[in-house]
Parts: sequence; C-alpha cells; structure tokens
Amino acid sequence: MCNKSAISLVILCLSLDFAYTVHIKHLRSHDFSASTDWDYLIFTQHWPTTVCKDWTHKKPNHSCSYPKKHNAWTIHGIWPTKIGTRGPENCNSTWLFDPEQVKPIETDLEETWINIEKGTALYSLWAHEWNKHGTCAAAIPPFSNEFKYFSKGLELIKQYPMHDILSGANIFPSDTKPVTIEEIDRAIVSKIGKKPMIQCKYEDRIQYLFELRICFDKQLNLIDCSDNSYQLGGIITNCNINAEIFYPDQHQATRGLVQLYKFINWLQWFTL
Ligand SMILES: *[C@@H]1O[C@H](CO)[C@@H](O)[C@H](O)[C@H]1NC(C)=O
Ligand SMILES: *[C@@H]1O[C@H](CO)[C@@H](O)[C@H](O)[C@H]1NC(C)=O
Repeated sequence: MCNKSAISLVILCLSLDFAYTVHIKHLRSHDFSASTDWDYLIFTQHWPTTVCKDWTHKKPNHSCSYPKKHNAWTIHGIWPTKIGTRGPENCNSTWLFDPEQVKPIETDLEETWINIEKGTALYSLWAHEWNKHGTCAAAIPPFSNEFKYFSKGLELIKQYPMHDILSGANIFPSDTKPVTIEEIDRAIVSKIGKKPMIQCKYEDRIQYLFELRICFDKQLNLIDCSDNSYQLGGIITNCNINAEIFYPDQHQATRGLVQLYKFINWLQWFTL
C-alpha cells in the first residue's frame, strides 16, 4: 500500500513536471515569436579562418571564400536583442530578402559581409541575416529597410575594424602563439571604451577566437555588452578562460597547398 502510493506520487510528480516543462516551453516560444520588442543591438564580426575551420571540419567537400583584403574580419550580422535573452527574430515573415535592394552595395558586401561558407546558396548569409534579424532591426529608422540595414553594417565595420583594433594592441594572428582573454578584452575596451562580447569555438580540442561583438543602443551609441550568463570576472565571453585561445593565421590552408605543390614538384624531379 505504502509502496503503491509512493509510486503514484512519483508518477504524479513526473507528469506534473512534464506538464510544467511543456507549459514553460510553450510560453517561451510564444513570447519569443510574438514579441518584436528589443532593447539594444549586437554588431558581430567574425574571424574568417575560424569560421572556415568550423565549416570544413571533417567535411572534405567544403571550402571557404575569403575576403580579398588579407587579415580582415568580416561581418556576421547586426542583431536586435532584448536584455537578458536572445532575439527577437524573424519579425516579419512576409518581408523576405530581395537581392535587388542591395545591388548598389553588392561589391562591398561581397568583400566585408562575405559568405565564407563556399558552396551554399547565393545570398544565403544575407538572406538569413535580413530575414532573421534585419526585419526586427527595421523597427528603428536607421535600419528601416534592407538597403539601410546592410549599408549600416558596412559603415560599422569601417568604424570598428577588429583586425586593426587587435593589432593596435599587438595582437596578431598566429598558429603558434596563443592570446589570453584579458588581452583581447583590454585591446577592445581601450579602443572603444565599452565592453565587448568575446566568442570562441573549439575544433579538435583547440580553442579558437571566433567572434567579437560590440553593442549599441537604439540611438546607435556604443554601450557595454551585457550577458549575465557569460560573465567571467567582468569579461563577457563563452570562451574557456582556463584554456589557451588561438587567433589562427589566415593562410594556413593555402600554405599547406604550397608545401604540397613543392613536394610534388620535388617528387617529379626526383623520379625523372
Ligand atoms: C511586413 O513587411 C511588409 C513588406 O515590407 C510590410 O508591408 C508590412 O507592413 C510589414 N508588417 C509588419 C507587421 O511590420
Ligand atoms: C558536399 O557533399 C554533400 C553530401 O555528400 C552534398 O549534398 C553537397 O552538395 C556537397 N557540396 C558541395 C559544395 O559539393
């Protein structure tokens, strides 16, 4: 009798818990999609070499497109964000990306907002960023249409070029010399006076610098980024601060090919 009621109690608890979870999930997703309200903008630049590592990792037929300019960081996106959460996203499902709207700036976008993941559909990065984030950013005048959203990205990356900001603090891409999270944070804070968000990615258990994000209010003034879930001693990051961080050199892959080419030449010469 006692056992039986204990079991029913457990079952009751489990089902309540399940119902609660479903309820919360439902509420969350509902809140998420219903609201187009946001507080600040995250401007994200990513490091092409790390994006490429992720894209080509264990996928032999994947390859990457790099910007022409050596060692340039490129734009990932401009993301409207509600404090303490992510998004909103996809604020207007009928306002889809239209390549015609960005024709006048397409050459610049091809360079600084380049889709590193070669082989994906033409315009897939821009369409993704516009449909998911741009339609939400459009709530304020500086982003009120597609052309303005993408033009503003070009403007911001000129104003805050991460390669220059890092090299100004003597931080250069290197496959052998790691950097510390404090060095990266200090380099950016000393240049822009506000806290960035620093993102890393792991490939084969090596931690790479991946994205640098800076934040703006709705008047487009720089503000400190904030994300309580990620704060490590005042540094806002998802990186493991106890592991080395590599800011990998850009032309590793090309250099590998050059080595291979020389080796083949040598082999040919040798076998002649
Ligand atoms: C969604 O976008 C379309 C096309 O630009 C526009 O006509 C419409 O007013 C937008 N809807 C909302 C809710 O903003
Ligand atoms: C890569 O391979 C996958 C599956 O094998 C295929 O679907 C895809 O189209 C290929 N991509 C390219 C760029 O060749």
